[in-house]
Amino acid sequence: MIYSKYIKMKKPKIVSGFSKLTKRGKIRWLVENFFTNPEEVARELKSFWYGDPQKQKIFDDFSENTVSNFYLPYGVVPNLEINGNLYCVPMVIEESSVVAAASAAAKFWLKRGGFKAEIIATHKIGQVHFEWRGDYQKLYERFEALKERIHTDTSHITSNMRNRGGGISTIELVNMCHLEDNYYQLKMTFETCDSMGANFINSCLEEAGRSLRAFVQEQDDFTTQEQEVTIIMAILSNYTPECLVRAWVECPVEELGTFDNGNIDAATFAYKFEKALKIAHIDVHRATTHNKGIFNGIDAVALATGNDFRAIESCGHTYAARDGQYRSLSSAAVKDGVFKFWLDIPLAIGTVGGLTSLHPLAKRSLEMLGNPSAEELMMVIAATGLAQNFAAVRSLVTTGIQQGHMKMHLMNILNHLEATEKEAIVVLSHFKDKLVSFTAVRDFLDLLRANKQPELKLK
Ligand code: MEV
Repeated sequence: MIYSKYIKMKKPKIVSGFSKLTKRGKIRWLVENFFTNPEEVARELKSFWYGDPQKQKIFDDFSENTVSNFYLPYGVVPNLEINGNLYCVPMVIEESSVVAAASAAAKFWLKRGGFKAEIIATHKIGQVHFEWRGDYQKLYERFEALKERIHTDTSHITSNMRNRGGGISTIELVNMCHLEDNYYQLKMTFETCDSMGANFINSCLEEAGRSLRAFVQEQDDFTTQEQEVTIIMAILSNYTPECLVRAWVECPVEELGTFDNGNIDAATFAYKFEKALKIAHIDVHRATTHNKGIFNGIDAVALATGNDFRAIESCGHTYAARDGQYRSLSSAAVKDGVFKFWLDIPLAIGTVGGLTSLHPLAKRSLEMLGNPSAEELMMVIAATGLAQNFAAVRSLVTTGIQQGHMKMHLMNILNHLEATEKEAIVVLSHFKDKLVSFTAVRDFLDLLRANKQPELKLK
């Protein structure tokens, strides 16, 4: 019976004060309540701890209730040329083929002028959502004074950022009463220089909320009701359409070369590629998968550099739906014999603060990239997303995705089947020119292990 192993386990009791237990205590509670082989699981969880307790403490302090570390592969993409500079790009990702695909695209474009990128804007956004009952005109008329007050009241928070060239850029009063009774916003934009700026923005917004409350109270000609405001919440918006970067590649069509062992010429490739992009623009199902391919690259660099990939993803998907329909983030055009492929994407990232300097490998990633500014990292991330997207669409419109993907996946299958090094060599050579599937690999390995066919003998 499928549930038998669960039936044997005792029902876990509600635990109180879990967070106060030591790490070993947490592990003990966990393994005793959720596993049938507690000793083995405890040993396994501990085996992923760092040997160096100082280093382990850094990881334990990132989050709460930590019991172990969860490893992901850390790979690199060499030869990614962006604006004439050569980068070796770090990527943290578990999916096979992604790093290989980005590397192949980097190599392809290296011979064709490399990637280009430019920053379009770097504004970030935050909102104080509030409820206020009164004559809007009265509030509107005093808004310049309120803005000044907010700048003054937040100056202790913004002074460092202002010294670095950033701070609060604009403050707007937005009347939302047509959508919700008595609902208004203070919509603020920020420049946060090389930091992602979430803490800075949220601190400014909360202070702005306090300023607003004090300000309305002090208006002698406001009614008692108008002197009160309810701050519903103050929080940055992860939708930053004006923190935008563009990355692109282009070359004459004939320089694209041929594909699929010469079976597909440059013009056919360019035509199919442009069509594939149009399909991703008009069809929501294809757009989602298409953009997933872009985020394979973007998230991997974001993770490797200690950036918040959830913020980047949520923003990217909202941006992809900015005209009311979810569409591809990248576009392609063939015009006057030139193939052009580009990606516009909002990326609110940082190269200082947060995990960027705390995580030892994030720090190394930034060093590997030449300790870039946030703007330079935006360009690197966008170019990697575009490289990833190029490689995926190139496979799709030529050989199909499975050929390359399953070859990479073969290693995972071999690991899953616990193939020895010798077995792996024979299997890899056998599947060089054959279709890979889990069943085919398992059957072949079974034959090999049973030593049934002389030509399959292990050397
Ligand atoms: C797989 O992780 C990503 C792709 O599906 C992206 C795409 O279809 O463009 C290959």
